[in-house]
Amino acid sequence: MARRNKIYEGKAKIIYEGTEPGTIIQYFKDDATAFNAEKKDVFEGKGVLNNRLSEYFMTGLAAIGVPTHFIKRMNMREQLCRSCEIIPLEVIVRNYAAGSFTKRLGIEEGTQLPRPIVEYCYKDDSLGDPLVSEEHIAAFGWASQVEMDDILSLALRVNDFLSGVMYGAGIRVVDFKIEIGRVFEGDYARLVVADEISPDSCRLWDIETGRKLDKDVFRRDLGSLTDAYTEVARRLGVMPNSATPIKPTVIN
Ligand code: TMP
Repeated sequence: MARRNKIYEGKAKIIYEGTEPGTIIQYFKDDATAFNAEKKDVFEGKGVLNNRLSEYFMTGLAAIGVPTHFIKRMNMREQLCRSCEIIPLEVIVRNYAAGSFTKRLGIEEGTQLPRPIVEYCYKDDSLGDPLVSEEHIAAFGWASQVEMDDILSLALRVNDFLSGVMYGAGIRVVDFKIEIGRVFEGDYARLVVADEISPDSCRLWDIETGRKLDKDVFRRDLGSLTDAYTEVARRLGVMPNSATPIKPTVIN
């Protein structure tokens, strides 16, 4: 890896200054954390898989007209992205009950929701990313009303895209989290899907067997995280060991 200026180190990625103004580089680590970093481990190859998978999803989103920060994958672990101002919200879309939703509302895990439900958490590790309402978001100025309308629409478009692509691979998208950034063009701020989309930030279940293919494998000690992510990559035709980029294809 070339010498780079580090901007920020998170739990699963390091952000470096990009090669050109207005860009950053995301470096995907093998570290996995859960429960606000109370549980930690390292899974060899996880970063490579997430780099590839996030590239695959971001490229697909761009192809259907959903703006993202992704520019190009640079190597096995790094991707070049447009720099943006991250809105301090975790935008969660749920299709089936799972995780904190089941606990909060007492709905059995796996119950299909009457429609996709979008939730917002305030991004603050020291507070454990608490659930917030649009009232909080407006009152504290984390995003404007116009931005909230755009965020909702982006979240639902990402949900339709991810659910459709995964359905073709025999995988159910139970829920996922995205982050949204502002890209400034003069005085105007445009919203883009930022951060990453990978099995670290989704719940993915095999449609036939219910096998978990996401970070819950680590959270709940259900086996090899790398095996689960490799299975997702294999089904999508995104092979991490290939030297040449493989065009996104969906296989059954
Ligand atoms: P939750 O059920 O724990 O609230 O998680 C909802 C979704 O958000 C799930 O797909 C996992 C993802 N997620 C993250 O990406 N980062 C986090 O810090 C948390 C808590 C959840």
